Amino acid sequence: MASSAITKVAIAGPNGTLGPPIIHHLLKAACFDITLLTRDPAKAAETYPAPTKTLAADYSSVPNLTTLLRAGAFDALVILINRDQVTAQTNLLDAAAAVGGLHVIPSSFGTSYEHPKGRQLGALINKLPVEQHFLRLAEEGRITYTAINTGLFFDWALEKAGLPINLLGGPTMLFDEGKVRLSVSTLDRIGEAVAIALLRKEELGLVNRFLYVQSAVVSQAQLLAYARQLAPEREFKTVGVDTASIEGPALEKLERGETGPEVQRALMARFSFGLGLGLFERSDNEILGLKDMTEEEIKGLLGGYFGEVA
Ligand SMILES: NC(=O)c1ccc[n+]([C@@H]2O[C@H](COP(=O)([O-])OP(=O)(O)OC[C@H]3O[C@@H](n4cnc5c(N)ncnc54)[C@H](OP(=O)(O)O)[C@@H]3O)[C@@H](O)[C@H]2O)c1
Repeated sequence: MASSAITKVAIAGPNGTLGPPIIHHLLKAACFDITLLTRDPAKAAETYPAPTKTLAADYSSVPNLTTLLRAGAFDALVILINRDQVTAQTNLLDAAAAVGGLHVIPSSFGTSYEHPKGRQLGALINKLPVEQHFLRLAEEGRITYTAINTGLFFDWALEKAGLPINLLGGPTMLFDEGKVRLSVSTLDRIGEAVAIALLRKEELGLVNRFLYVQSAVVSQAQLLAYARQLAPEREFKTVGVDTASIEGPALEKLERGETGPEVQRALMARFSFGLGLGLFERSDNEILGLKDMTEEEIKGLLGGYFGEVA
């Protein structure tokens, strides 16, 4: 199953963060027939005109999703659904399994799931049930998958006030002194990786495996040093945070059933910086023919923000 070349691709959840870079790279490859499944077809059709097709989808209904996937005779399903929407993702996976023969790129796009300490911590609370679901369906032979882990979204995060450093004017929360290194990927890198995973899954042996792609390995201290070099007139304040001290309160909240963004952020900070699990143990860039950014390219990316966000 799913052993021939992929041409017909369904993309679920195109109106979020990952739609633009992934659809850009799939269109650039010029060999995919793309259909978007979305809650908001008007918005998707406006953003992605023909030849991209758009269909209204109800992520709460496995029968609806199954009908759409079956009617489209797709070879692949790329799921770009928000991490907190667990049922929407498992419903899409169940629909793909019901149709059969689809290669799925699940909505992984994050950090490594593999380390037992990371699993115990609960930072991946909404990711693990989805992972378990697609692994089970793959074991049963009902789907194939390539799960792409990317680390922190680099440029996306630099446009926010949080990680890895704050370019928006407020202080940077410097976790565990800021020297811990982590893998990061630009949105463009993620688009490239998805396109390669669909184009060359057989040739590169990407079926039923987790891929680790990155644009660079960086630390908060390194990025702050670059920022200070690039904009010496600006003050980049920091506030030290010991991730061990935020872990306990976040775990208590988790035990009470609170899984909101504040809890997830604290546990992810502990996971990435305290336990050092934001750094991939291996990078699959070479397999995909991708290169890490040079120091100059990282500075170029940072420099690009100063005009806009200063
Ligand atoms: N590593 C990182 O730094 C990082 C950062 C951000 C995200 N991510 C990962 O990237 C993936 C996508 O996340 P995202 O933040 O990009 O998601 P997002 O932009 O918030 O949403 C993506 C899509 O999910 C669907 N969606 C959103 N809210 C929904 C709801 N309440 N009910 C049903 N569907 C809903 C929408 O589909 P429609 O288009 O159909 O409306 C939306 O376009 C996730 O796996 C996430 O963990 C990683």
